[in-house]
Order: sequence, then structure tokens, then C-alpha cells
Amino acid sequence: MTAGNMRAWRLEAFGRGNLALREAETPAPGPGQVLVRMAAASLNYRDLLIVDGSYDPRMRLPAVPLSDGAGTVAAIGEGVTRVAVGDRVAPIFVPGWHAGDNAEGRPALGGPLPGVAAEYHLCAAEDVVRLPGHLSWAEAATLPCAAVTAWHALFGHARVRPGDRVLILGTGGAALFALQFAKLAGAEVAITSGSDAKLERARALGADHLVNYAADPRWGATVKRLFGDGADVVVELGGGGTIAQSVRAVRRGGTVLLIGSVTGGRAADLDLVPVFMRGVRLQGVSVGHRDAFTAMLRAIGHHRLRPVIDAEFPFERLPDALAHLAGGGAFGKVVVTIGD
Ligand SMILES: NC(=O)c1ccc[n+]([C@@H]2O[C@H](COP(=O)([O-])OP(=O)(O)OC[C@H]3O[C@@H](n4cnc5c(N)ncnc54)[C@H](OP(=O)(O)O)[C@@H]3O)[C@@H](O)[C@H]2O)c1
Repeated sequence: MTAGNMRAWRLEAFGRGNLALREAETPAPGPGQVLVRMAAASLNYRDLLIVDGSYDPRMRLPAVPLSDGAGTVAAIGEGVTRVAVGDRVAPIFVPGWHAGDNAEGRPALGGPLPGVAAEYHLCAAEDVVRLPGHLSWAEAATLPCAAVTAWHALFGHARVRPGDRVLILGTGGAALFALQFAKLAGAEVAITSGSDAKLERARALGADHLVNYAADPRWGATVKRLFGDGADVVVELGGGGTIAQSVRAVRRGGTVLLIGSVTGGRAADLDLVPVFMRGVRLQGVSVGHRDAFTAMLRAIGHHRLRPVIDAEFPFERLPDALAHLAGGGAFGKVVVTIGD
């Protein structure tokens, strides 16, 4: 049992300026629960939307932000055998979603459920996964949303195989995991970015084809040509402003994995005729379940894969970390270190 106070970030009203680091009572685990002493957390684009209120303007406040983190089991409640005190774990993104096609409306951490931007996080023992030993805390903290989404999209929904041609949009957190996993699976990968410098860094991670979407607005046709007859799979992270080009890039009968909407959620210029005439599959993806997380960790552990980290900020500087991600210059995950 851990008594006393902890510090936790609280979003008290929407807007980055309304984040406050507050004292709170350290919770004690009840039956079936574990208390995790958080060591690091990482940021997703989603956290920017949550903090500014555009993710869910009706979300109840105050709220503890951030979904992704990792730490040590500090205490366990009655009946817990799945993990032990001292284990290195990460809480899963959607508590209770352990398998199955979708989360069935279950809420996620960091909005509306209490997030991991706290020195301690209380959760069900069933809702954590054990981490591979080679990962630093910062690396481990990058996994629950971005990495699980990329894994589940590529291998759960699209069943990517060696030799498949995969197009990945942008070089954000989820995109770089998709790149690393697609290469691990033996795929040929094209990646887009608005920055030539980021494209070169993507090449160093294994990208086979580099396309600058800012210099080449008709990048869909370019990718189609690079791949001969188009991509088998498109990892669509751009949304409304990119979907039309993504549909141009995919081959007949190929799959567009609809994951993100960094350019907005509405697609005004999408021509649906080629979608059905060419038998394109549009597949929505919403993160992934605990089984996907566990399978991904096996691969990460076996291949000693290392997540790409752009920057680490101390716990007290969470607002600066969010500003850094919002600035758009990051290549890799932005991490907040919590423990000592
Ligand atoms: N459905 C799900 O379960 C799920 C899970 C995770 C993430 N997401 C969504 O996926 C998206 C990315 O999330 P993230 O956390 O990976 O974001 P992030 O790390 O903040 O990265 C955003 C990236 O978007 C890229 N971008 C901006 N404009 C673009 C354009 N016109 N075309 C292609 N790329 C563009 C930028 O790449 P460059 O700088 O290289 O241009 C930037 O690095 C968000 O919409 C997020 O909500 C959804």
C-alpha cells in the first residue's frame, strides 16, 4: 500500500494554459487492481485535440491527460496474480478491450478516463502488459496508442505479408511505427512527408520510396507509378485532405486503412466511383486490443526494435512538450519523464 500524496497534471479547462500540476491522494489498489508508479509518458496527436477541446468538447473536466505511459507495479490489490510488485508494465489504451473486432464503445485513457500524466496510475491488473527488458522507460512509454494502432492496422486488419507494397502518410508517431513494423514484415514501403530532411531520416529507418507531398501535390499518382500498379495497403493518417490521393495510390482491390485526420475529418473531394469500380477496401482502424499489444511486444522484444524518440521533457514541463509536438517539427515520439 502506498499512502500519501502524488502529483498529477489536471486539465482544468480546455486550452494548454489550463493544465495545472496538482497534489492528489495516491490511490490504493482494490481487489484485482494494480498501482503503477509511472516512469514516463508519451504524447499523441490525440492529446493535442483533447487538451484544446476539439476531441470531445463535452468531456468532463478536470481530467488527467495522456493515454500512453509505462512504469513499475508499486502495489497490487487482493487476488492479483497476473503481475507482481516490481514488474515493468504499460497500461493498455482502452481498459477492458482484450480481444475482438472493436472496443465496443469502451472509453480510453487520457480522455475520458483518467490518464497517465501522474506519478501513480491505478488500473485493473487485466489492463496492463509486461514490457520487454531492452526498452528504456521513454521507449516503452511510446507504445500503447501509436504503436498498437500501427501493428493492429497492418497485421490485424490488412494482414501485410513480405513483398507487399505499403504506403505510409507522414512521419508522425503512428507513421514511424508503421514504417518500422512494415519493414520488419518484409514489405516494400513508400512514405510521404512535407520535409525532405524527415524523408531522409525515414530512409535511414528502411523506407524504400520517399515522396514530398508539399512539392508533389499529385503524390498519389507518383506512388502508384513507383509501385508499378499501386500500393497494396495505404496507412491513411492524413484524413480529409489526403484521402483522394490515397485512393489514387492504392491498387485495384487494395486496402486503405483509415486511421487519422491530421488535415481534418471531412473529405470534400473524394470521388467514390473509383473506390467501388476498382474494389478498393476502406477499413477504419481504432487503436487495438490487449492481444495485439502483447503480440507486438513479442516482435519488439525478439527483434530488439527501438521506438524513435524525438525529445524528452521533465514531468513539470508537460505544456512545453505539448507545444513541441504541436509545432510539427518532431521526428519520432515526444516523451515526458516522470520518475527519477
Ligand atoms: N484511429 C486510431 O486508432 C488512431 C491511433 C493513433 C493515431 N491516430 C491519428 O493518426 C494521426 C496521426 O497521429 P500521430 O499521433 O502519429 O501524429 P503526430 O505524431 O502528431 O504526427 C502528425 C504528422 O502528420 C503529418 N502530416 C501533416 N500534414 C500531412 C499531410 N498533408 N499529409 C501527410 N502527412 C501529414 C506530419 O508529417 P510530416 O511532418 O512528415 O509532413 C506530422 O508529422 C492523428 O490524426 C491521430 O489522431 C488515430
